[in-house]
Parts: sequence; C-alpha cells; structure tokens
Amino acid sequence: MKEDKATKIIRALLQSPKGFVTGSAMARDLSVSRVAIWGVMEKLREEGYEFDAIRNRGYRIRELPHNLSASYLNARLPFLAERSAIHVHDTLDSTNSEAERLLADGQKAPLVVIAKEQTKGRGRLGRIWESPREGNFYGSLAFRPRLNPSRMQPFTLWMGLTICRFLEEIGKLKPMLKWPNDIYCNGKKAVGILTEARMDADLIHELVLGIGINVSSAPDLTDAQPGGNQAVSLNEASGREISLNPFTVALLETLLEAYKVFHEDRYQEAFKRLWERYNLLQGKTVKARTGTAVINGIASHLRPDGALIIRHQAGETALVSGEVTLST
Ligand code: BTN
Repeated sequence: MKEDKATKIIRALLQSPKGFVTGSAMARDLSVSRVAIWGVMEKLREEGYEFDAIRNRGYRIRELPHNLSASYLNARLPFLAERSAIHVHDTLDSTNSEAERLLADGQKAPLVVIAKEQTKGRGRLGRIWESPREGNFYGSLAFRPRLNPSRMQPFTLWMGLTICRFLEEIGKLKPMLKWPNDIYCNGKKAVGILTEARMDADLIHELVLGIGINVSSAPDLTDAQPGGNQAVSLNEASGREISLNPFTVALLETLLEAYKVFHEDRYQEAFKRLWERYNLLQGKTVKARTGTAVINGIASHLRPDGALIIRHQAGETALVSGEVTLST
C-alpha cells in the first residue's frame, strides 16, 4: 500500500510520546524536503487541524478537525488502511450505495465507506435520511459473510445492541434500542441503521451495514412529528462535545470486532445480556405496523430469528419486519 504523506505525519504526531515531532525528523522519515512537509501541514490546517509549532521541539496536534479526516482514520486503523479498505468521501449519494458498488466491483471485504455528507441518504421503509455536512457520522461497513439468510435479522439486532453498549461506555448517555434498529437517547432518536444484503435462498453473499449517527446535529422533525422534535444529537443528549474522529475510530474497531464475534457464532450469551439491558420496548404497550396490518399489544420476547413477539387479546403475533411505536 502507498500511504500518503498526511497519514504518515498524523501517525508520527499521534505516536510521539510527548506529541511533538520536528519538521526535520518528518522530512527525514518521509524522505522529502522541509518545504514539502510545510506544504502538507498547510493542507492539514485547511482540513481543520490546529498545530502548536514550538522552536526546537517541532509540531504538536492542538485540535483535531471537527469533521472527518481520512488521514486520522488511516493513521489509527492500520489494519484497514494497509488494505486501502477505508473510503472517506467529502460527499456521496449514499454510503450504502457506494459500499454496494465497491462489493459489486470485487473489492476485498470488510471495507468501510464514510461520507461527510450524503445527497441521497436512505432510511428504512423508503425514507430519506437527512445527511448534512455538520459533523455527523454517515458510514457503511461491507462484508461477504456467506451466512444463512436467517442470520440477517439477528445480525442487525446484534450490531444495534453493540452500538448501544459502545455509546453507554463513552459516557453520559443511556441509549436504548427500539426493535429492530433505532437507537434512542433521552427518548429521542439518535442513531438509525439500515442493513442491506445480496443473498439467495441459502447464503448471504454481500452484507452492508449502514449507520447514521446524529453526533453534532439532529434533523428538525417538528413538522413531521406532532408534539415536538423526536430526534436528538449525541452532543445534546450527553451535554458534552464528542470529538468525531476518535469517536469514529473507536466505533469502527468495536463494530468490526462485533462482526467477528457474530460470524464465529460466539455472540449468543452477550446478545441476551445486552438485549435485557437495552431493549426499549420490553413489556411496553405498543402499536406495530407491518404491511397494511396494525397490531396493538404488549411487546414481549424475541424469537431466535429476531422476530419480535407482540402479545394481544387474540394471542400473539411474531413481527418479522415493520415499525413499532410506543402507545401513549
Ligand atoms: C433509519 O433509521 O431509517 C435508518 C437510517 C440509516 C442511515 C444510514 S446513513 C449511512 C448509510 N447510508 C445510507 O444511505 N443510509 C445509511
């Protein structure tokens, strides 16, 4: 792999014990002139990096960019970078669409596609996922799992639960998963997940996990949702400012590990524990819509295939897909 100079510089700065690296050490390590280093530092500044430059000590990162930096992600995720498996775009139609194109093109999986903004962000059930360039996470992870199609719903649930655990661990958030794959913080939606697959009757050949996270800003849904805006950003919900680049690195590491655990079928026990902790609907009165049917009842347990069991007067219904809302 040919690594670009910016990634090498960011890695050297991140790895330096005191954070400082001199311009001449960078020039020597990259086999380029001091002037070339200066040019790359200027480009990084334009990207949003701020550096301290101190005589005899060199440069140090003072502030990371507000928006995503390909150099930062490549520097921190070498196991993906060395396969050129991180695709960071300024703008895309949809990271899911791009991931699907890359898989169709024969690129090696797993791979990651991230965009600073999307012009045709897709949500579940044919909805639009608003994706402005405002420091949010719009990303897709693409796999070739060769698993049975019955594993698709448990996979989406497992990844949703993993994101809940991740968000709780970064602090000051109490995320909850609303079946099948919406994540709520403070009673409002903060994360949406869209899983798409190419499969036949026996095998899932290609699997794309698309995740939209309102990190810095949430769409205003006041008009769409009578009773107030039902979306929230993580910054608002946690009362602190999350730094998008380290957040993205930790999220991708967590998700790739969770995929491995799932693929090796080692997820069942943890799944049960996480489901008990993060299931928003447990025992709640709900209204479920699937196709044209509307079911009112109590959300009960999960079937092994990930269907949600709704108990009602006439017995129970297993919900395989659809939308569930809490009844007030
Ligand atoms: C939903 O809640 O309806 C799911 C939203 C999923 C949005 C993400 S953003 C990244 C990826 N690319 C897309 O076009 N959609 C998903």
